[in-house]
Amino acid sequence: MEKPEHHIIVCCGFRTTGSPQGFCHKKGAINLLGYLENEINDRGLEGVQVTSSGCLKACDRGPVMVIHPENVWYGKVESEDAIDQILDAMEAGSVVEDLVLS
Ligand code: FES
Repeated sequence: MEKPEHHIIVCCGFRTTGSPQGFCHKKGAINLLGYLENEINDRGLEGVQVTSSGCLKACDRGPVMVIHPENVWYGKVESEDAIDQILDAMEAGSVVEDLVLS
């Protein structure tokens, strides 16, 4: 297995039973997950792995997305425009300050 250069974890609010019912799921994280994966392909980004996750314990600021190895946590990722901004920043080696969780 080749390790990814960037690993993007998108909270989809899965419960331990596997059912997606958490806050991020209710806020449309699964739809954004699809957009994110398509956008990564469209941009031809190599070495970027996307994984959905269960609750990342920041529900009040969801949908939540984390990028490693930078350890950048984003909150209120609610639109395709937000995803575009996050990918632009990742490619530029910066962050979207307005969305960063601190
Ligand atoms: S359901 Fe996403 S942070 Fe809790």
